[in-house]
Amino acid sequence: MQEGIFFNLTSIFYFLLVLGCLQQKNSYARMLQSEVGDKEMTETNKDPTLNVFFTPDDLKLGKTMPIFFPIKNFSEIPKQLPKEMAEKIPFSLANLSYLLQFFSISKDSPQAKAMKYTLTQCELEPMEGETKFCATSLESLYFSTHDFFGFDGSMKAVATVYPKNFKTELQKYTILEEPIKILAQRILSCHMMPYPYLVLYCHSQVSDNILYKVIVEGENGDRVESLAICHVDTSEWDSDHVVFRVLNVEPGESSVCHFYPEDNIVFVSDA
Ligand SMILES: *[C@@H]1O[C@H](CO)[C@@H](O)[C@H](O)[C@H]1NC(C)=O
Ligand SMILES: *[C@@H]1O[C@H](CO)[C@@H](O)[C@H](O)[C@H]1NC(C)=O
Repeated sequence: MQEGIFFNLTSIFYFLLVLGCLQQKNSYARMLQSEVGDKEMTETNKDPTLNVFFTPDDLKLGKTMPIFFPIKNFSEIPKQLPKEMAEKIPFSLANLSYLLQFFSISKDSPQAKAMKYTLTQCELEPMEGETKFCATSLESLYFSTHDFFGFDGSMKAVATVYPKNFKTELQKYTILEEPIKILAQRILSCHMMPYPYLVLYCHSQVSDNILYKVIVEGENGDRVESLAICHVDTSEWDSDHVVFRVLNVEPGESSVCHFYPEDNIVFVSDA
């Protein structure tokens, strides 16, 4: 029922491996930018990439909404290091100046800021009920995910799938089919962080999350098989979280949902 969006783990690790090989040095800090003509300064006009949030009310067959599905420039994805090598390099904010020297990155560059951001995010204490870790190699990702699900627990990896030759643009998409719930006891979401080598940030909350497969079609005919998640209880979230401004709701008032870009990997326990 959910074919297409599911991959087996081997192919995900292979995919990451290939991504890692297509690296280009020092270009990881570049951010996706795009322009919209609208003058109104809503959050989503200031930053079109915020067009990924919605509420469960929007999750209906035939619903139309603007969505921005970012594309990862494959040549900008950093190289993945073997575990033994990654473990020899300190991965700590306390070692930032050493690391900047080590990678020949100047102190005030965007790359330095990106490294500082990544190390800070990776060192943040998890929120209550949250599990988080940063994996600095694919082997460490492999072991950490198995730790999370238990070595005998069976799991799958899911991701958003773009059509061939997909081009990023902010446009309206319509939900083409009744969204499908992906049943899972535990959900672990992972995404790449800007860093001189491949670093994946993975996190999971114990509070209720519902994962969906949503097939949407853009005005230009592009069909995206998107993974989306709804966070049911947001009462403990930081009220400054951008999602509350975008959706104009208060923490705890409504579930909040978002679409995933293609380069996020979500591991789910087999229902
Ligand atoms: C991807 O990145 C490379 C290297 O920075 C650049 O030359 C190329 O134009 C980029 N491609 C796209 C589609 O942005
Ligand atoms: C990394 O930081 C720690 C704590 O400040 C320090 O003891 C260690 O020597 C540093 N390592 C390197 C390689 O600079």
